[in-house]
Amino acid sequence: MPIRGATAISCPNIAFIKYWGNRNEKINLPENGSISMNLAELYTRTSVEFDLSLPADHLSINGKLASGPILKRVSDFLDNVRRLADISAYASVTSENNFPAGAGIASSASAFAALALSASTAAGLQLSEPELSRLARIGSGSACRSVPGGFAEWYAGESDESSYAVTIAPPDHWNLVDCIAVVSESHKPVGSADGHTLARTSPFQEARVTTAPGRIDRCRNAILARDFEAFAEVTELDSNMMHAVMMTSKPALLYWLPATLTVMQVVAAWRRKGIPAFYTIDAGPNVHVFCEENDAPTIFRRLTEIPGVSRVIIAHPGPAASLIDPACKEGG
Ligand code: DP6
Repeated sequence: MPIRGATAISCPNIAFIKYWGNRNEKINLPENGSISMNLAELYTRTSVEFDLSLPADHLSINGKLASGPILKRVSDFLDNVRRLADISAYASVTSENNFPAGAGIASSASAFAALALSASTAAGLQLSEPELSRLARIGSGSACRSVPGGFAEWYAGESDESSYAVTIAPPDHWNLVDCIAVVSESHKPVGSADGHTLARTSPFQEARVTTAPGRIDRCRNAILARDFEAFAEVTELDSNMMHAVMMTSKPALLYWLPATLTVMQVVAAWRRKGIPAFYTIDAGPNVHVFCEENDAPTIFRRLTEIPGVSRVIIAHPGPAASLIDPACKEGG
């Protein structure tokens, strides 16, 4: 077999209705459906080459050779691609992110969406978008939502075949801005993969999961109607519910730092004063503050003035994962 390669680019996504806890951990079948938005300015760019002369899979992330559990996770994922394509060659994988990994901006989502697309293409497969979303989900649950563009809904589904994400509105549907208040760039102490297994130890998880379909409907309707108030209310509620589960798991997970809480309180106070903004937080201390384009300069400036906020990253609704010409150096 000749060396076969492909390069893909994918955005991370931020969830408005969160995924926390699996029914099937092996293939990441989630306890509940979720809704998210891709983040245009942030990306992972991944090249994969299958090469029969390689003695093992080889992985480089941001110019550094990876080994141990990270290499194993990627290699296990590539086994799925090899099985689907009926090939045996090992792969050389080169991946780059333009944003900090492990601090609540889901790098595993863009990483596995870009890897699913580049590896499946390099292996000679031509997967449909739902098939690609399912493949990405096996690498990292939230990665299935980075495959389609814009605002995405991940159907929890009953099985591997029915658990994938679709676009519910394209990126230009709503001029929302995610102002990410970075309060820490260091790696989180407990990653999402371990957190998902702890979710069921919280007495609040069942309440969160059984009421999720109602929040999914409210969130999808608010996005489709561009109803900021309704969107703000259901998204903050859902984020708070996931963090309540985290904090009441055994052992308890507390991802917030003091500055996280400061931003949450400030944003809630702005909204009471009529400044339309809301927050949502993933498995990390950084706070995603959403507003509409017109309000973004004010929100951006005010966030940078909060003690403990080291910088603010701006992101708009982003596109689907796509193949790119390997000669092209910049993403986006
Ligand atoms: C808190 O799908 O990133 O961001 O790949 O196992 O690390 P692992 O899990 P992942 O979990 C993301 C959880 C979340 C909420 C969400 O994105 O819905």
